[in-house]
Amino acid sequence: MSWLEGKVLENRAWTDALFSIRVKTSSLNFEAGQFVRIALDIDGERVARPFSFVNPPQDPVLEFYGIVVPEGPLSPRLAKLRPGDTLYVASNPAGFLVLSELPDAETLWLLSTGTGIAPFLSILRTDAAWKRFRNIVLVHAVRHARELVYQDLVRGMKGLRYVTFVSREAHAGSLAGRIPQAIADGRLEGAAGVALGAATSQVMLCGNPDMLKDAQAALAARGMRKHRRRAPGHITVESFW
Ligand SMILES: Cc1cc2nc3c(=O)[nH]c(=O)nc-3n(C[C@H](O)[C@H](O)[C@H](O)COP(=O)(O)OP(=O)(O)OC[C@H]3O[C@@H](n4cnc5c(N)ncnc54)[C@H](O)[C@@H]3O)c2cc1C
Ligand SMILES: NC(=O)c1ccc[n+]([C@@H]2O[C@H](COP(=O)([O-])OP(=O)(O)OC[C@H]3O[C@@H](n4cnc5c(N)ncnc54)[C@H](OP(=O)(O)O)[C@@H]3O)[C@@H](O)[C@H]2O)c1
Repeated sequence: MSWLEGKVLENRAWTDALFSIRVKTSSLNFEAGQFVRIALDIDGERVARPFSFVNPPQDPVLEFYGIVVPEGPLSPRLAKLRPGDTLYVASNPAGFLVLSELPDAETLWLLSTGTGIAPFLSILRTDAAWKRFRNIVLVHAVRHARELVYQDLVRGMKGLRYVTFVSREAHAGSLAGRIPQAIADGRLEGAAGVALGAATSQVMLCGNPDMLKDAQAALAARGMRKHRRRAPGHITVESFW
């Protein structure tokens, strides 16, 4: 595997822990929803982690959205990158959280926790998403309201049904609690204003592995199952850890 040498153009701090890095590299082909390994040289060793593209494929500047895991080897260093610094980007993007793998449906549900919103921001900025689905719902669950990032981008998307959860403080305009419970008790459908079920929906899930597990159980109770090439279903997941 080879590495592209990228130059950091911008590193935006949304909060003490959340950051978005924009990087210029030579051109890289990928499909919206995919990830790529990004790396820094730390004490003579190249330390790499997968990150989802936030930018759509047609955008020549790459963008990644991350959180500082204080004890983690890479993320605290990524958060400190400054314009002009070098960030290595692997030459082989990968991943199956992509629309080309999905069966047709009336409604596309994009369910995320924390940084799991990243691949959906890329998908939402492709023409394919808006051509293929009559309704698109983006759901973003975070602990605190200040973590509801990319608001300007998301609120500017005409036709998008956008539902937020804030779990650790009261926040007007956001649902309380967690995604799986809100699937089970109908609050999520109510907030989105569209039905969630096997007959109409494809669901993509990204973020915290416990959310992925609990949400899939709640969707299974509605007759939905994991999508596989050989056994088409309704649920496609990507776990961030
Ligand atoms: C396919 C894929 C795509 C990914 N895309 C992204 C992305 O777009 N943005 C991003 O921030 N991370 C993403 N990750 C996670 C990322 O690769 C790193 O694990 C993360 O940046 C922390 O790196 P680290 O070296 O500091 O700590 P690590 O040693 O890698 O992680 C330590 C622990 O931190 C926690 N953790 C890791 N990632 C997250 C996270 N994103 N949010 C909350 N807790 C976390 C987990 O408990 C993990 O065990 C992705 C992971 C995978 C597998
Ligand atoms: N450096 C810093 O200052 C700093 C600050 C914050 C976080 N961090 C790091 O980032 C990590 C957490 O990141 P995060 O807040 O983005 O992620 P998170 O813990 O995954 O929380 C994001 C959202 O997912 C929800 N969630 C968690 N488990 C779920 C489940 N089983 N089902 C449904 N929803 C679930 C949370 O709800 P609940 O609130 O109900 O759990 C929250 O609304 C921490 O472990 C820490 O390492 C660092």
